Amino acid sequence: MSVFYTRQTLTIALDKAKAENKSIGFVPTMGALHEGHLALVKRAISEVDVVVVSIFVNPTQFNNKEDLEKYPRMLSTDVAFLENTGNVLIFAPDYSEVYPLNDSFDKIELNGTDEVLEGKYRPGHFQGVMHVVRNLFQIVKPNKAYFGLKDFQQVAIIKKMVQVLNLPIEIVACPTLREKSGIAMSSRNLRLTENQKTDALIIYQTLTYLKELKHKCNPEEAKKLAKDYFMKGDLTLEYLEIVEGNTLQSLGDSWAEDSTCCIAAFCGNVRLIDTIQL
Ligand code: PAF
Repeated sequence: MSVFYTRQTLTIALDKAKAENKSIGFVPTMGALHEGHLALVKRAISEVDVVVVSIFVNPTQFNNKEDLEKYPRMLSTDVAFLENTGNVLIFAPDYSEVYPLNDSFDKIELNGTDEVLEGKYRPGHFQGVMHVVRNLFQIVKPNKAYFGLKDFQQVAIIKKMVQVLNLPIEIVACPTLREKSGIAMSSRNLRLTENQKTDALIIYQTLTYLKELKHKCNPEEAKKLAKDYFMKGDLTLEYLEIVEGNTLQSLGDSWAEDSTCCIAAFCGNVRLIDTIQL
């Protein structure tokens, strides 16, 4: 398994692959890898010739210092985990490799899609995500990049960024992987106790309940009933919204073809998000 720490060494390896006309797939991650990441890597391996997995905890997308500090970092475990998956190139840069001194990034206007849902509660988060992903794209220059739909808004925003910047990269959105219990796989689950994992089930139960509600009432009513249901659990709700999948605008009295529910909630001091397409 090759681990590259600098953009220069990775670029040499990728240039060689590109000279041989090999297609490049890219899975950006912040490490603490789990089966959900593995599903993205496996999908990439099945679709392209060379797969790059980046492991970089990106400070510019955290608006909470404690969250950044507590984010799990376990490079050697991650490398061992990937070793069992197949042949991938691991890119584990430090800050100055991703953000060189001459780096600049102009705010990308996305018609407000980066200001609702997560964007409303984590100001600047998506500009930070776009910045790091744009920089990583510039280094890897992939043909395809793979993202998980648990971060539904992130996928929508990266797709828009690729359009706005006119990048020749196909964004592949992959389904959320869940534990047997239903809880969405996330690196943050590592910070949950067993009891908290049980408490966190209310998120998936609420999303499943909403699927039923869709046949009985309009989005506004469904949202109210779902919130009441959620409040019976022990988590602290930050938001529960039902939105149109492209504009991310809240739905009121009628369902859209792509209606999606997004939830963010605190389980103790761990912030969890989840999404379901209704
Ligand atoms: O989804 C994540 O893990 C991160 O937001 C990403 C895409 C790796 C950018 O830091």
